[in-house]
Amino acid sequence: MIVRKHLWIGGAECETKSYVKLTAPYGGEELAEIADAAPGDVDRAIASAADAAKTMREMPGYRRSAILERLSDLLTERREEAARIVAREAAKPLKAAYAEIDRTAATYKFAAEEAKRLHGETVPMDAAQGGEGRIAYTRREPIGVVGAITPFNFPMNLVAHKVGPALAAGNAVVLKPAPQTPLSAFFVARLLHEAGLPGGALNVVTGDGKRVGEQIVADRRIGAVSFTGSAAVGESIRAQAGLKRVTLELGSNSAVIVDDDADLEAVARRCAEGAFGYQGQVCISLQRIYAMSSVASELAARIADAASRLVVGDPLDPKTDLSAMIAPREAKRAADWIDDAVSRGAMLLAGGAPQGAILPPAVLTDVPDDAELSRREAFAPVVMVNKVGSIAEAVSRANDSDFGLQVGIYTNRIDTAMYAMDSLVAGTVLVNDIPTFRLDHMPYGGVKQSGLGREGVRYAIEELTELKLIIWRSAGQ
Ligand code: SIN
Repeated sequence: MIVRKHLWIGGAECETKSYVKLTAPYGGEELAEIADAAPGDVDRAIASAADAAKTMREMPGYRRSAILERLSDLLTERREEAARIVAREAAKPLKAAYAEIDRTAATYKFAAEEAKRLHGETVPMDAAQGGEGRIAYTRREPIGVVGAITPFNFPMNLVAHKVGPALAAGNAVVLKPAPQTPLSAFFVARLLHEAGLPGGALNVVTGDGKRVGEQIVADRRIGAVSFTGSAAVGESIRAQAGLKRVTLELGSNSAVIVDDDADLEAVARRCAEGAFGYQGQVCISLQRIYAMSSVASELAARIADAASRLVVGDPLDPKTDLSAMIAPREAKRAADWIDDAVSRGAMLLAGGAPQGAILPPAVLTDVPDDAELSRREAFAPVVMVNKVGSIAEAVSRANDSDFGLQVGIYTNRIDTAMYAMDSLVAGTVLVNDIPTFRLDHMPYGGVKQSGLGREGVRYAIEELTELKLIIWRSAGQ
């Protein structure tokens, strides 16, 4: 029997008028019928969050912490079930799905810890004339209701990166998960309820992504919007959000630079992991490699060899490395970009021919810098290896991008690493690693079209709180 998933509002399931079928990207099995929230439902979810925001604001930090800690433990206890939900609805191979659940539990644990240390700082008022006899300090206060809009690619952990910090800071949340992966969000909502979260502090509204998202962004009761997804949607959210706080984690066409002294075997292994993990559907997926000309061909051949060894198939098979992309049209789009690059002189060493939603991992060399595949975010299992004559050329080509999320450089020369560190334009520069690396407490976010603000629990809390200044004047002054 097909399960019906209702909205989650005020700490309970809420029926609505219409439901849409959710099918698995791999195999096409019908997984559930998902509530398609009407405007009145979204309004009720926001009203419920606005009510619960008062309770959350008054709840002491140790209690918020205990709820998040319990959620983390529940996720660990139900790791198998959680991983299977992710594997089925996102076609994420089980190996990667387990890793995501472990990270999600860690993210909520970090949030539990941060809930206990929301502190401010003292301000030395006497640094300015007129400040004598005054003491001042800042404190962080919850923003109220956070609108969270999350993508399909990490349906548990990118929800955690919004919900964890928001609740840790004493906010309530209206969550709109990606239409492709709502089951993970409903699962977490239930666990949070079990962990003791007051009704209304987390509401989950599913349905037409654009309509529901726009209603959340426009509503005046929402104090902050936190979005992860495409640059185009991010820009439109920013334009509609008015004076609301907005955090945007957007895409990239991430690059790594490889110097001529790098250990090619190790680098090729990491590049294959970074380019093909979860079918390349990761914001920091490795897409562009700029390698010194003396090592580029060998590096490309090694990555193509690694690509050809990957096991492609059913996400529920523990041996699978790569499965279906989220939709056949995404595989087709990426394949078209590959064909276009080849027609402009690139060489295809592996992959590239889609079968439905499956795109075998593709490796190209000599892709022109103005090809769509170079300029846009592929969000697919595809990587290019381009030859460069100098590190300066590599840095300039890596920076020649509308994006700037994370970028890596492999080199054993300290001066080269320091030059790259200073000249690469990105939120994070990694020395001797690929850009596809994230731990959940580190500041994470980009420049240019890659976004606005930072996540990573402590940094997200800064985005989701207001800084209030308290000034005391001594009675005698
Ligand atoms: C993302 O794709 O935006 C997140 C990547 C990660 O958390 O590893």
